[in-house]
Amino acid sequence: MIIFMKEYFLNEKQQLPLVLEPDGDASAEGLKEYIRKNHKAVTDKMIQSGAILFRGFDINTPKLFEEISALIDPNLKNDYLGTSPRDKVAGTDYVFSASELPGFYPIMQHCEMSYMKNKPVKLFFYCNVEPDYGGETPVCNFRKVYQDLDPEVRTAFEKRGVKLVRNYSAPGKRSRLNLFELKSWTDIFHTTDRAEVEKQFHKYHVDFAWKENGNLRLTHINNAVTEHPVTKEKVWFNHTQVFNIDAAGVEYEYIHKRQKRLKTLFFKKFISAMVAVRKLTIKAEDQSMNMLFADGTEIPKSYIRSIEETIWKNMVIFPWKKNDVLAIDNLGTSHGRLPYEGKRQIMVCWSE
Ligand SMILES: [Fe+2]
Repeated sequence: MIIFMKEYFLNEKQQLPLVLEPDGDASAEGLKEYIRKNHKAVTDKMIQSGAILFRGFDINTPKLFEEISALIDPNLKNDYLGTSPRDKVAGTDYVFSASELPGFYPIMQHCEMSYMKNKPVKLFFYCNVEPDYGGETPVCNFRKVYQDLDPEVRTAFEKRGVKLVRNYSAPGKRSRLNLFELKSWTDIFHTTDRAEVEKQFHKYHVDFAWKENGNLRLTHINNAVTEHPVTKEKVWFNHTQVFNIDAAGVEYEYIHKRQKRLKTLFFKKFISAMVAVRKLTIKAEDQSMNMLFADGTEIPKSYIRSIEETIWKNMVIFPWKKNDVLAIDNLGTSHGRLPYEGKRQIMVCWSE
């Protein structure tokens, strides 16, 4: 069987993502056959562009999505130590809901778990239910972001590295008004047993400290930039634009510029007011989440603005279509989520 494929860039300027569309046979079996026969070409192109969007195929179940992902990379994983609440999809071994965070939450661009020792190599997203409004999963070439960054900002991060701090409340102590803390530590680790949690930290090499009030602090110190293992290009590879205390407010300015809704105007103002209060009342290292320079000093807000500006300039935003599979090279290309309304069911799996 010979499978023909149309190939083009969704965004010509960014050359991202590369779209593969059926030219004839649109069956999932046909696509599987194509991947089997052209595995090296597919994975090479995925790294070169940063992401491949398989569009127009009859990938109509999460199980088929899982099978196609496993053909691209058989090393799928299902242990998750990130920050986003996720649920496993029934009938699969490795597929999760992409994020159970409420629709108004901004998810800024990031390479998945960039701060962990073991990070996903490839990420696969699947559109099971198209969003009613918004809810795109934009992608961005973080090799290009590194190149385009203001040299002063880039040098500061390269020289100084970054420190991610996450502070989780003790069970029952989490304030519902604190939008910056997603879960208490017992919820994130699904246990109330400290020893059990510590076992996971040792396994995943996470620095931790129990606080007097029963809270838990996790710390990750990393380089801000890495080298892509295959292309050897430098990559902006850190979560500053996600976790820094100023990031969500800056992100919402861009979101409001794009979505121009009353709701986005409200969140833009609400988040910036909330951040101002939190910065006045809570030390940088005690915030629910924050990204600092590795020595613990604060990152200037002007740097956050500069990073966000570079990311938004290079980001590719496109609406989901049912049965889309987006395969991303996590070591060079970021993803995020724009706020949405109504239905949306995007699923994810990843390999290491
Ligand atoms: Fe993610």
